[in-house]
Amino acid sequence: MLADRYGNDVSTSSQAALDRYNEALLLIRLYEGDPIAALDAALDDDPDFTMAWAARAAVLVQQADKAYDAEAERSLRAGFASGGNDAERMHLAAARDWLEGRLHKAVTGFARLALENPRDLLALQSAHVGCFFVGRQAELRDWPLQALRAFGREDDGRHAVLGMAAFGLEECGDFARAEDMGSEAVALEPRDGWAVHAVAHVHEMRGDTDRGIPWLRGNIQAMGPENGFSYHNWWHLALLHLDRNDHAEALSLYDSRVRPVADGKVLMEWIDASALLWRLHLDGVDTGNRFAALADCWADVTADGYYAFNDLHALMAFIGAGRMADTERIVEAVRRSAAGSDDNGHMAREVGLPLAEGFLAFANGRHDVAVDNILAVRGIGQRLGGSHAQRDLLSLTALHAARRGGMRQLAEALVAERLAHKPASPSAKRLQREVEASPVVRAAA
Ligand SMILES: [Fe+2]
Repeated sequence: MLADRYGNDVSTSSQAALDRYNEALLLIRLYEGDPIAALDAALDDDPDFTMAWAARAAVLVQQADKAYDAEAERSLRAGFASGGNDAERMHLAAARDWLEGRLHKAVTGFARLALENPRDLLALQSAHVGCFFVGRQAELRDWPLQALRAFGREDDGRHAVLGMAAFGLEECGDFARAEDMGSEAVALEPRDGWAVHAVAHVHEMRGDTDRGIPWLRGNIQAMGPENGFSYHNWWHLALLHLDRNDHAEALSLYDSRVRPVADGKVLMEWIDASALLWRLHLDGVDTGNRFAALADCWADVTADGYYAFNDLHALMAFIGAGRMADTERIVEAVRRSAAGSDDNGHMAREVGLPLAEGFLAFANGRHDVAVDNILAVRGIGQRLGGSHAQRDLLSLTALHAARRGGMRQLAEALVAERLAHKPASPSAKRLQREVEASPVVRAAA
């Protein structure tokens, strides 16, 4: 039995297969290149390499895209059939839970592996990604922090643990330590897009465009086309420009970096694209035919509700494109999801459905319903998954609904909250001026 690059026993005796597997582990932790191709090459050398099947399944289920389910299922079947050691079978079981909708059990399964063996960086990363999807913020922070004890200053992979810890710290509001650890990670590995991203989040949360924009533009090693996460860091850069009220630069980044291929098939890109266009839409910016092109992509995959966070982003694209029949169809899909007993059903019931109905109400000019629905769940919004920066859409949409609906006091309260978090934010100051100039239709309830 051989050991992987972190020292974990794996069930192959083929050095060639192990070399390709180790290459895949590097690509996975950098979100770079094509780890599936590297894993397939490992499996060509040794079709009974259980951990390679398990890693393949884990990468596929983490795409949050139904299109990969069949391949994930094939990987799991082959992996279980190949035997493997206890840890490998636990990886497979966790990926199986994920595929079958038991997200929390999957996350805990991966975390258990990482807690008992902090050198299992792949398990830690899978748990971290899972925590992001289901909004387990404290564990986004704490599981990487526990693993740091096993990664000394010179150890391969330390940057990735630091980057994960930085993001978790940021999501828990510990911005200073997040920035320190994220910066240390990037100094160790400039291609670590997740660590670059963690620090970008710190600047976003502080509304610090003076430091955020140079940070991202100065770390483009992690934002090239070979990095599978780069579109999201470009999206963050666009948000920072939006914070400066620079709509033109945000649109330019949308076209050149977030959606360089107008019909690109990566679902995660559609999420950021929807979110960016929605922000521009709220600000009254003409986004041309961009919503229409994006809605065409979403139309193929949203028939039956898969993940409430994605459904909400699809809904924004349909509203923006003026496709109200499709918007109603999404709300209906979320309604069906909310009746389910799996983890997505729970998320949809608690948060996804009130938001979908609230955004639909916003689109139909029923601003009071939009405000009521959004404010009812904004405080538990993390249960939908995603980051604070992504869910800032909820606050912004509620603010615009309050302003448009003449709920002046409520709009003023939401602006004051925004300025308290981001005192230097030009966009928050602009929103304050817009609210002050808006008519009062009725006092807030
Ligand atoms: Fe982010």
